[in-house]
Amino acid sequence: MPELTVGSEEHKSLFCRHFIDTHHRYEVRDIRWPDLDEADVQRLRAMPFWDEAVQSEATAAARVRAMADVEPDALLREAIAMQAYEEERHAALLQSLTQRYGITVGDGRPPAPRDAEWAFLRMGYGECFDSFFAFGLFRLSADTGLFPDALVRTFDGVMDEEARHILFFTNWVAYRRLGLPLERRAWFLVRRGLGLSLQAFGRVRTALHLRSADAGDDFTMQVPEAVGEVTLRTLAETCIDENERRLGRYDTRLLRPTLVPHLVRLALRALPTRNGRPTA
Ligand SMILES: [Fe+2]
Ligand SMILES: [Fe+2]
Repeated sequence: MPELTVGSEEHKSLFCRHFIDTHHRYEVRDIRWPDLDEADVQRLRAMPFWDEAVQSEATAAARVRAMADVEPDALLREAIAMQAYEEERHAALLQSLTQRYGITVGDGRPPAPRDAEWAFLRMGYGECFDSFFAFGLFRLSADTGLFPDALVRTFDGVMDEEARHILFFTNWVAYRRLGLPLERRAWFLVRRGLGLSLQAFGRVRTALHLRSADAGDDFTMQVPEAVGEVTLRTLAETCIDENERRLGRYDTRLLRPTLVPHLVRLALRALPTRNGRPTA
Protein backbone atom coordinates (compact mmCIF):
# COMPACT_ATOMS: atom_id res chain seq x y z
CA MET A 1 0.00 0.00 0.00
CA PRO A 2 1.46 3.43 -0.89
CA GLU A 3 2.69 5.61 1.97
CA LEU A 4 0.38 8.37 3.06
CA THR A 5 1.67 11.81 4.02
CA VAL A 6 -0.29 13.04 7.03
CA GLY A 7 -1.63 16.53 6.37
CA SER A 8 -1.67 16.07 2.57
CA GLU A 9 -4.73 16.35 0.31
CA GLU A 10 -4.59 12.54 -0.12
CA HIS A 11 -4.77 12.19 3.63
CA LYS A 12 -7.82 14.46 3.80
CA SER A 13 -9.55 12.60 0.96
CA LEU A 14 -8.84 9.24 2.57
CA PHE A 15 -10.10 10.03 6.07
CA CYS A 16 -13.17 11.91 4.81
CA ARG A 17 -14.12 9.39 2.12
CA HIS A 18 -13.51 6.46 4.45
CA PHE A 19 -15.79 8.06 7.02
CA ILE A 20 -18.53 8.81 4.49
CA ASP A 21 -18.29 5.39 2.81
CA THR A 22 -18.60 3.48 6.10
CA HIS A 23 -21.78 5.32 7.13
CA HIS A 24 -24.58 2.95 8.05
CA ARG A 25 -28.01 3.98 6.77
CA TYR A 26 -31.00 3.45 9.03
CA GLU A 27 -33.86 5.44 10.49
CA VAL A 28 -34.72 5.44 14.19
CA ARG A 29 -38.45 5.32 13.32
CA ASP A 30 -37.90 1.92 11.63
CA ILE A 31 -36.51 0.31 14.78
CA ARG A 32 -38.90 -2.16 16.38
CA TRP A 33 -37.85 -2.36 20.02
CA PRO A 34 -38.26 -5.94 21.27
CA ASP A 35 -40.51 -6.99 24.14
CA LEU A 36 -38.24 -7.62 27.11
CA ASP A 37 -38.97 -9.71 30.17
CA GLU A 38 -39.73 -7.86 33.38
CA ALA A 39 -36.26 -8.41 34.89
CA ASP A 40 -34.56 -6.87 31.83
CA VAL A 41 -36.91 -3.87 31.85
CA GLN A 42 -36.28 -3.31 35.58
CA ARG A 43 -32.55 -3.51 35.03
CA LEU A 44 -32.72 -1.03 32.15
CA ARG A 45 -34.82 1.38 34.20
CA ALA A 46 -32.41 1.19 37.13
CA MET A 47 -29.36 2.10 35.02
CA PRO A 48 -28.38 5.54 36.29
CA PHE A 49 -27.06 7.11 33.10
CA TRP A 50 -29.91 7.45 30.58
CA ASP A 51 -30.58 11.13 31.14
CA GLU A 52 -26.90 12.01 30.95
CA ALA A 53 -26.47 9.84 27.85
CA VAL A 54 -29.31 11.61 26.00
CA GLN A 55 -27.96 15.03 27.01
CA SER A 56 -24.40 14.26 25.99
CA GLU A 57 -25.48 12.95 22.58
CA ALA A 58 -27.56 16.10 22.04
CA THR A 59 -24.62 18.29 23.09
CA ALA A 60 -22.27 16.36 20.78
CA ALA A 61 -24.73 16.81 17.91
CA ALA A 62 -24.96 20.60 18.50
CA ARG A 63 -21.18 20.96 18.63
CA VAL A 64 -20.47 18.89 15.54
CA ARG A 65 -23.26 20.60 13.60
CA ALA A 66 -21.76 24.01 14.50
CA MET A 67 -18.37 22.86 13.19
CA ALA A 68 -19.90 21.60 9.94
CA ASP A 69 -21.61 24.97 9.49
CA VAL A 70 -18.32 26.93 9.61
CA GLU A 71 -16.13 24.46 7.69
CA PRO A 72 -15.28 26.02 4.29
CA ASP A 73 -13.89 22.86 2.64
CA ALA A 74 -16.69 20.92 0.89
CA LEU A 75 -15.41 17.40 1.58
CA LEU A 76 -14.59 18.08 5.25
CA ARG A 77 -17.98 19.75 5.65
CA GLU A 78 -19.76 16.74 4.16
CA ALA A 79 -17.97 14.36 6.55
CA ILE A 80 -18.48 16.56 9.63
CA ALA A 81 -22.16 17.09 8.75
CA MET A 82 -22.51 13.31 8.51
CA GLN A 83 -21.06 12.95 12.00
CA ALA A 84 -23.53 15.60 13.24
CA TYR A 85 -26.35 13.56 11.68
CA GLU A 86 -25.11 10.40 13.41
CA GLU A 87 -24.93 12.18 16.79
CA GLU A 88 -28.46 13.50 16.30
CA ARG A 89 -29.52 9.96 15.48
CA HIS A 90 -27.86 8.66 18.67
CA ALA A 91 -29.85 11.18 20.72
CA ALA A 92 -33.06 10.19 18.88
CA LEU A 93 -32.28 6.49 19.35
CA LEU A 94 -31.88 6.92 23.10
CA GLN A 95 -35.05 9.02 23.28
CA SER A 96 -36.91 6.30 21.44
CA LEU A 97 -35.55 3.51 23.66
CA THR A 98 -36.27 5.36 26.91
CA GLN A 99 -39.80 6.12 25.74
CA ARG A 100 -40.40 2.49 24.78
CA TYR A 101 -39.31 1.09 28.15
CA GLY A 102 -40.74 3.82 30.35
CA ILE A 103 -37.53 5.58 31.39
CA THR A 104 -37.82 9.29 32.12
CA VAL A 105 -35.21 11.60 30.57
CA GLY A 106 -35.05 15.32 29.83
CA ASP A 107 -35.18 16.62 26.29
CA GLY A 108 -33.07 19.76 26.70
CA ARG A 109 -31.80 21.23 23.47
CA PRO A 110 -28.27 22.53 23.99
CA PRO A 111 -27.49 25.86 22.33
CA ALA A 112 -25.00 26.03 19.46
CA PRO A 113 -21.50 26.86 20.79
CA ARG A 114 -20.08 30.31 20.10
CA ASP A 115 -16.63 29.00 19.15
CA ALA A 116 -17.25 26.01 16.90
CA GLU A 117 -13.65 24.81 16.59
CA TRP A 118 -13.02 24.96 20.34
CA ALA A 119 -16.24 23.05 21.03
CA PHE A 120 -15.37 20.46 18.36
CA LEU A 121 -11.86 19.98 19.80
CA ARG A 122 -13.14 19.48 23.35
CA MET A 123 -15.90 17.18 22.21
CA GLY A 124 -13.52 15.13 20.06
CA TYR A 125 -11.09 14.52 22.91
CA GLY A 126 -14.01 13.77 25.21
CA GLU A 127 -15.16 11.12 22.73
CA CYS A 128 -11.67 9.60 22.60
CA PHE A 129 -11.77 9.10 26.39
CA ASP A 130 -15.39 7.99 26.63
CA SER A 131 -15.42 5.66 23.63
CA PHE A 132 -12.34 3.75 24.77
CA PHE A 133 -14.03 2.86 28.07
CA ALA A 134 -17.49 2.49 26.53
CA PHE A 135 -16.18 -0.19 24.13
CA GLY A 136 -14.94 -2.33 27.05
CA LEU A 137 -17.90 -1.66 29.33
CA PHE A 138 -20.31 -2.51 26.53
CA ARG A 139 -18.55 -5.83 25.86
CA LEU A 140 -18.60 -6.75 29.56
CA SER A 141 -22.24 -5.67 29.97
CA ALA A 142 -23.23 -7.79 26.97
CA ASP A 143 -21.17 -10.82 28.05
CA THR A 144 -22.42 -10.76 31.65
CA GLY A 145 -26.07 -10.24 30.72
CA LEU A 146 -26.26 -6.81 32.34
CA PHE A 147 -27.38 -5.38 29.01
CA PRO A 148 -30.29 -7.31 27.44
CA ASP A 149 -29.24 -9.56 24.55
CA ALA A 150 -32.06 -8.31 22.36
CA LEU A 151 -30.63 -4.78 22.41
CA VAL A 152 -26.97 -5.64 21.91
CA ARG A 153 -27.04 -5.56 18.10
CA THR A 154 -28.57 -2.08 17.91
CA PHE A 155 -26.07 -0.63 20.37
CA ASP A 156 -23.18 -2.47 18.77
CA GLY A 157 -23.89 -0.25 15.75
CA VAL A 158 -23.71 2.85 17.96
CA MET A 159 -20.30 1.72 19.27
CA ASP A 160 -19.08 1.26 15.70
CA GLU A 161 -20.18 4.79 14.89
CA GLU A 162 -18.28 6.14 17.89
CA ALA A 163 -15.18 4.25 16.68
CA ARG A 164 -15.53 5.97 13.29
CA HIS A 165 -15.95 9.34 15.02
CA ILE A 166 -12.73 9.10 17.02
CA LEU A 167 -10.87 7.77 13.98
CA PHE A 168 -12.11 10.75 11.95
CA PHE A 169 -11.33 13.21 14.75
CA THR A 170 -7.75 11.93 15.24
CA ASN A 171 -7.03 12.36 11.54
CA TRP A 172 -8.83 15.73 11.40
CA VAL A 173 -6.68 17.12 14.26
CA ALA A 174 -3.44 16.05 12.54
CA TYR A 175 -4.59 17.37 9.16
CA ARG A 176 -5.84 20.64 10.60
CA ARG A 177 -2.66 21.31 12.57
CA LEU A 178 -0.36 20.69 9.61
CA GLY A 179 -2.52 22.74 7.24
CA LEU A 180 -2.36 25.91 9.34
CA PRO A 181 0.21 28.65 8.74
CA LEU A 182 2.99 28.55 11.37
CA GLU A 183 1.73 31.52 13.40
CA ARG A 184 -1.72 29.94 13.77
CA ARG A 185 -0.35 26.46 14.31
CA ALA A 186 1.05 27.41 17.75
CA TRP A 187 -2.36 28.73 18.84
CA PHE A 188 -4.06 25.57 17.56
CA LEU A 189 -1.57 23.47 19.56
CA VAL A 190 -2.36 25.46 22.71
CA ARG A 191 -6.09 24.98 22.19
CA ARG A 192 -5.60 21.31 21.41
CA GLY A 193 -3.52 20.78 24.58
CA LEU A 194 -6.02 22.69 26.68
CA GLY A 195 -9.00 20.86 25.18
CA LEU A 196 -7.32 17.52 25.85
CA SER A 197 -6.37 18.45 29.43
CA LEU A 198 -9.84 19.75 30.27
CA GLN A 199 -11.45 16.56 29.01
CA ALA A 200 -8.96 14.41 30.96
CA PHE A 201 -9.55 16.48 34.09
CA GLY A 202 -13.33 16.15 33.64
CA ARG A 203 -13.05 12.34 33.38
CA VAL A 204 -10.91 12.06 36.53
CA ARG A 205 -13.35 14.28 38.41
CA THR A 206 -16.29 12.14 37.30
CA ALA A 207 -14.46 8.95 38.35
CA LEU A 208 -13.71 10.38 41.80
CA HIS A 209 -17.29 11.58 42.13
CA LEU A 210 -18.64 8.13 41.18
CA ARG A 211 -16.38 6.47 43.72
CA SER A 212 -17.56 8.69 46.53
CA ALA A 213 -21.23 8.89 45.51
CA ASP A 214 -23.84 6.23 46.02
CA ALA A 215 -24.32 4.74 42.56
CA GLY A 216 -27.91 3.98 43.48
CA ASP A 217 -29.21 0.94 45.35
CA ASP A 218 -31.83 0.31 42.69
CA PHE A 219 -29.13 -0.27 40.13
CA THR A 220 -26.80 -2.28 42.37
CA MET A 221 -29.61 -4.66 43.22
CA GLN A 222 -30.25 -5.34 39.53
CA VAL A 223 -26.64 -6.10 38.62
CA PRO A 224 -26.04 -9.78 37.76
CA GLU A 225 -23.52 -11.60 39.96
CA ALA A 226 -21.08 -12.10 37.08
CA VAL A 227 -20.46 -8.34 37.02
CA GLY A 228 -19.14 -8.47 40.57
CA GLU A 229 -16.31 -10.72 39.38
CA VAL A 230 -15.00 -8.18 36.88
CA THR A 231 -11.72 -6.79 38.16
CA LEU A 232 -10.10 -3.51 37.17
CA ARG A 233 -7.53 -5.52 35.22
CA THR A 234 -10.25 -7.38 33.26
CA LEU A 235 -11.93 -4.07 32.50
CA ALA A 236 -8.68 -2.46 31.31
CA GLU A 237 -7.73 -5.45 29.17
CA THR A 238 -11.20 -5.67 27.67
CA CYS A 239 -11.12 -1.95 26.81
CA ILE A 240 -7.77 -2.38 25.05
CA ASP A 241 -8.92 -5.47 23.13
CA GLU A 242 -12.22 -3.93 22.09
CA ASN A 243 -10.57 -0.68 21.07
CA GLU A 244 -8.19 -2.60 18.80
CA ARG A 245 -10.96 -4.76 17.40
CA ARG A 246 -13.28 -1.87 16.59
CA LEU A 247 -10.62 0.40 15.13
CA GLY A 248 -8.78 -2.45 13.43
CA ARG A 249 -11.43 -2.70 10.71
CA TYR A 250 -10.54 0.58 9.08
CA ASP A 251 -7.85 1.58 6.61
CA THR A 252 -4.49 0.91 8.24
CA ARG A 253 -2.99 4.08 6.72
CA LEU A 254 -5.19 6.27 8.94
CA LEU A 255 -3.99 7.50 12.33
CA ARG A 256 -5.53 5.97 15.45
CA PRO A 257 -6.12 7.62 18.84
CA THR A 258 -3.20 6.44 20.95
CA LEU A 259 -3.13 8.48 24.17
CA VAL A 260 -5.81 6.70 26.23
CA PRO A 261 -4.78 3.14 25.20
CA HIS A 262 -1.18 4.05 26.00
CA LEU A 263 -2.05 5.43 29.46
CA VAL A 264 -4.20 2.38 30.25
CA ARG A 265 -1.38 0.03 29.17
CA LEU A 266 0.93 1.88 31.55
CA ALA A 267 -1.64 1.63 34.35
CA LEU A 268 -2.01 -2.10 33.67
CA ARG A 269 1.64 -2.63 34.52
CA ALA A 270 0.94 -1.36 38.02
CA LEU A 271 -2.26 -3.33 38.57
CA PRO A 272 -1.97 -6.66 40.38
CA THR A 273 -2.22 -9.80 38.25
CA ARG A 274 -4.04 -12.96 39.35
CA ASN A 275 -1.06 -13.86 41.56
CA GLY A 276 -1.34 -10.45 43.21
CA ARG A 277 1.81 -8.88 41.73
CA PRO A 278 2.11 -6.00 39.26
CA THR A 279 3.47 -6.98 35.82
CA ALA A 280 6.26 -4.35 35.76
FE1 LIG B 1 -22.70 9.67 19.77
FE1 LIG C 1 -19.67 10.38 18.46
